[in-house]
Amino acid sequence: MTNLDPRIEKVLYSHEQIVNVTKEIAEWINDKYKNSKELILVGLLKGCIPFMAELIKHIKVDHKMDFMTISSYEGGLAQKKNIKIVMDLNNDISGKDIIIVEDIVDSGKTLSKVLNYMKNMNPKSLEIVALLDKKCARKVEINIAKSGFIVDDVFVAGFGLDVKEKLRNLPYIGIFKKSEFDKL
Ligand code: IMP
Ligand code: MG
Repeated sequence: MTNLDPRIEKVLYSHEQIVNVTKEIAEWINDKYKNSKELILVGLLKGCIPFMAELIKHIKVDHKMDFMTISSYEGGLAQKKNIKIVMDLNNDISGKDIIIVEDIVDSGKTLSKVLNYMKNMNPKSLEIVALLDKKCARKVEINIAKSGFIVDDVFVAGFGLDVKEKLRNLPYIGIFKKSEFDKL
């Protein structure tokens, strides 16, 4: 790995690995939704951006994109309890096939809130794809249809994942050096 960011302890997933696993997720979507009349990918901002951008390059089924911003996390290392919808959907999702696109599922609290909110709007179907699944940190049970990597309970950054809103731009995902936290 050339030019490893000095705030990263170790690379967990290279850019190439991320692209490959994202292609697999896209293939799953291409197959499962091949007969879908109306498919909407709902990205949860801002962590979904690099993952969603890569994902749509490989999706062959017609779809629309929509986004929500949820504040569940203040950029710190500890989880904020209050989960709020900061920016809502633009589309009416009732009767449509919906795939939520998320960077990482940790406790599951964010997604459980988003799922409840969306279920009330009666979509035809509702599934989640996530690049990373921090399964061991789960507090609320969540069914993830397709995930890229199962990750241990470590704090990761890059490819959309932030530390205090920074480091989302790294092309890989790595373990963040906790000693660097106060400097950001
Ligand atoms: P949950 O509600 O606990 O599942 O939290 C999910 C959100 O927390 C994700 O969408 C991320 O924004 C953030 N998050 C959880 N773990 C990490 C991490 O290791 N690095 C960066 N962000 C994380
Ligand atoms: Mg997120």
